[in-house]
Amino acid sequence: MSEKLVIFDSVFGNTAQVAKAIGEAFGDVPVKKVDEVTREDLQGLSILLVGSPTRAFNPTPAIKDYLKSLGADALKGVKAAAFDKRIPKDKTDSGFLKFMVNIFGYADKKIEKQLVKTGATIGIESRALGSAAQKVCFTRESLNGRKIG
Ligand SMILES: Cc1cc2nc3c(=O)[nH]c(=O)nc-3n(C[C@H](O)[C@H](O)[C@H](O)COP(=O)(O)O)c2cc1C
Repeated sequence: MSEKLVIFDSVFGNTAQVAKAIGEAFGDVPVKKVDEVTREDLQGLSILLVGSPTRAFNPTPAIKDYLKSLGADALKGVKAAAFDKRIPKDKTDSGFLKFMVNIFGYADKKIEKQLVKTGATIGIESRALGSAAQKVCFTRESLNGRKIG
């Protein structure tokens, strides 16, 4: 049992890499793939980070279903944050993708919304965490001293 936990999903391994780097950057935080998380993992939790690849502008079904399964108040008192992997808008020449992203966004905000529904408080904006996450090389330094909560 740990007070902090990183939960992620990943199809091709990129989000897994970032999740591990985030776990290290925040100080040896346990990192678990969403299908390995148990109810006991959430006991006594104070900080939770949840990450997913963006697929079709959303988190993976596994992340969505998991967060939905927790129900209201499951994460009351927990400070949470979301991150995702994505194709950043400024890294694509596709006007269509930019247009679609402007409407539908990325996975992080959707994870945040689900976290709020479980009673968690957003302790660090996904925008701040996400911009560091996109660098893959996620380090304590790239957090610029940011703390959750
Ligand atoms: C089927 C599919 C759909 C995707 N949809 C999006 C998307 O809507 N927006 C985006 O920014 N990136 C999208 N991507 C890119 C992935 O988010 C990106 O490649 C990510 O690094 C994959 O993470 P993973 O290796 O952990 O699976 C998509 C990739 C795939 C294969």
